[in-house]
Amino acid sequence: MATKITWLGHGTFSIETAGRTVLIDPFLTDNPSASTTADAVSPDAIIVTHGHADHVGDTVPIAKRTGALVVANFEIAAWLEGQGVDNTHAMHIGGAHDFDFGTVKLTIAHHGSGLPDGSYGGNPCGVILKTAEGTIYHAADTGLFYDMKLIGEEGIDVAILPIGDNFTMGPDDALRAVKLIEPKRVIPDHFGTWPVIEQDPQAWAERVRAETSTEPVVLEPGGACEL
Ligand code: NI
Ligand code: MN
Repeated sequence: MATKITWLGHGTFSIETAGRTVLIDPFLTDNPSASTTADAVSPDAIIVTHGHADHVGDTVPIAKRTGALVVANFEIAAWLEGQGVDNTHAMHIGGAHDFDFGTVKLTIAHHGSGLPDGSYGGNPCGVILKTAEGTIYHAADTGLFYDMKLIGEEGIDVAILPIGDNFTMGPDDALRAVKLIEPKRVIPDHFGTWPVIEQDPQAWAERVRAETSTEPVVLEPGGACEL
């Protein structure tokens, strides 16, 4: 059974694997690029990379409605419990855990993680998700860091990298990230949501094709690819 990766816009992805649906950073309400709504999704699990509103997004209402397991760093998991979300699994950077949908390992990310109400959200994270069909690395919001080379050593089939600039890596640094990670395929995200992070993903994909052996996969919000 294939693993299906669907971009829901911005940093939000739905991953269907092992008969389960996992949402990463479900920011749908107030997301101008969202391809669906918070009421229309029914995940089995949600992974939250960091505390910012465009990543925590609709986690609380979706988790309360569906009972989905929410996986996040310790500080965000504790904050979610305070919001009435009972089904959480706290992890932290460098730690891996086997779930029924695959193995999650949290990585470093160079960014912030303050929660929408000003609470401390711990350190921001990226996510490595190992499935039966392959390994996905969702870098989430981050600047370029040389340890992406170590992440690449895990054998990344699909890397999801921000290219929007301003808040995260822009196209130049995302291209350098591809060279460090050497994934089989790369999906650009975190662009086009607002004017400040407008980018040309096709132009970036051309550079990836010209300068690396990684296959770029440019999705539209709502678009998907399979592992
Ligand atoms: Ni952020
Ligand atoms: Mn963001």
